[in-house]
Amino acid sequence: MKLQFIYKIFNIFILITVFVLIHCACGNSTAINTPIVFPDSNVSWTYHVQPFIKMTCATVGCHSTQSQAAGIVLDDYMMLFSGSALGMVVPNDPEASRLVQYLEFKVVHNGSIYWKFDSQQLNGVKKWISEGAKMN
Ligand code: HEM
Repeated sequence: MKLQFIYKIFNIFILITVFVLIHCACGNSTAINTPIVFPDSNVSWTYHVQPFIKMTCATVGCHSTQSQAAGIVLDDYMMLFSGSALGMVVPNDPEASRLVQYLEFKVVHNGSIYWKFDSQQLNGVKKWISEGAKMN
């Protein structure tokens, strides 16, 4: 009887431990899955645009600082304005910015790659560029 009781307590303890471990391990995924909501103005590179680019163009194997697909890095502010990324962002001119043209599928991207975002995010990127594309 006593052994059965100890066995039950032990099982409950194991279950709680596993639950806590899973919760801790998955904690970060909420950050990844948290939708990026752009404000109507004062759009930030750090809090809005860079996370958005990491979710679209600079996912793993793409235009991240690590992967540098086609030699193009889009998730680093300085790199976004240099080298083969030149012209991706033209401050104050979203329509002339190739990043926007790619996002709006106005230019063809080699390779059937797509990205998911909504209109408020696209408008947010364009607003950031209209506001001068600052490193804010
Ligand atoms: C809106 C987001 C993106 C932008 C602005 C962008 C931009 C570019 C540009 C300017 C080029 C070079 C010219 C061209 O091939 O069109 C390119 C090529 C490439 N990009 Fe992207 N890209 C984006 C998303 C992605 C994603 C999500 C991936 C990976 C899944 C990716 C992987 C590549 C690769 C592998 C190439 C070389 C293609 C080739 O030369 O065959 N890109 N991208």
